[in-house]
Amino acid sequence: MSSDTSKFGEYGGQYVPEALMPAIEELDDAYRRYVLENEDGFVDEFRERLRDFGGRPTPLQRADRLSERYDTDLFLKREDLLHGGAHKLNNALGQVLLAKYMGKERIVAETGAGQHGTATAMAAAHLDVPCEIYMGERDINRQRPNVFRMRLNGAAVNPVTTGRGTLKEAISETMRDWATTVETTHYVIGSVVGPHPFPTMVREFQSVISEEARRQFDDQVGGLPDSVVACAGGGSNTMGAFSRFVSDESVDLYAVEAGGSSLAVDEEEGVAPNSASLSTGTEGVLHGARTKLLQDRDGQIVESHSVSSGLDYAGVGPELAYLVDEGRVTPVTVDDDAALEGFHRLSQTEGIIPALETAHAVAWLEQATSEQLGDSVVVCVSGRGDKDLESVIEETASREIPNAPDMDVFSGGMR
Ligand SMILES: Cc1ncc(COP(=O)(O)O)c(C=O)c1O
Repeated sequence: MSSDTSKFGEYGGQYVPEALMPAIEELDDAYRRYVLENEDGFVDEFRERLRDFGGRPTPLQRADRLSERYDTDLFLKREDLLHGGAHKLNNALGQVLLAKYMGKERIVAETGAGQHGTATAMAAAHLDVPCEIYMGERDINRQRPNVFRMRLNGAAVNPVTTGRGTLKEAISETMRDWATTVETTHYVIGSVVGPHPFPTMVREFQSVISEEARRQFDDQVGGLPDSVVACAGGGSNTMGAFSRFVSDESVDLYAVEAGGSSLAVDEEEGVAPNSASLSTGTEGVLHGARTKLLQDRDGQIVESHSVSSGLDYAGVGPELAYLVDEGRVTPVTVDDDAALEGFHRLSQTEGIIPALETAHAVAWLEQATSEQLGDSVVVCVSGRGDKDLESVIEETASREIPNAPDMDVFSGGMR
């Protein structure tokens, strides 16, 4: 695996309380030895478990109807087919295994959409480690099937009632737990966020996505795609899908953020009706790292919004913020309505029901110019949409989504 760094330009770092520093240093040391140097065969075991438990490699599938629609060769990297239904398992399995190598006896994790919590609960059951998940109350209500899945795998789910009850508060609460239990506990963070080494380590565990996609594209088509598209919440599927293409200057990289209902920040109310920190955020510190954030003039983090819980976060990974400033990654936004249209479009055209997060990446294809897409595109299908069905029924009913089917299945209205 590749080398690491604690800073990406001005971004990243380790802005944590003194009490957490020993744990961060211990983790950094373990990351270097086991992940970078393959001590005790860690990387070999990780790869083997990703294959046998996770089902890797996931396919790179040509999407025929979307290729025709956008007049390009369009490929889907099918992370929705990974065990658990999203890319999150790549990281969760890596970190839970690392915790075992470090001799930790307990796992804590936060979750937003519940996909990371589910992946962590699965990995913890698989590797026989007790596991507790913190989840905002609002997200618990939005993602009930995943809450049940976590419980089925034996994890405790602790509701977080502070703030808006979404991902930001869940991360804060998990960090609080970890600060008092570091001796015995590992915090499995769910994205490329947090203090170093988390952003680098999570990116390395997720890089299997671009490592495979690069090889598969070369085998199936030859050469490299013109562009790679992935949705960005914290940025783990984005970094996973981009990282092995970053040094290929000919490949354009598009990070699709949640535009929510508007791109403006309401300073008075302290809310941003979006989660577009790469496109509209400013520099600040959140959850142990300097990065781009949604904040007001006084540096207070404002509440974010997205129709998809997994993108509903006021920050983003520091490496992604850096790559945007460097001009290597282009951030773009898709609003809630367009994301729902994207959800229905992929379901209808390719027979794949995507996660609402993924639907943002799919929806952006509709807004992109043919120059942006180029002759060939890889879109990361970060997850499947089963967890979102209740939300989609509700959200579709309350909006005008032109391509939505009639959802009234119970009064004979189903077409
Ligand atoms: C399917 C899916 N895609 C994307 C995301 C966004 O997270 P990240 O930006 O870390 O990939 C989530 C988060 O829960 C998710 O469940």
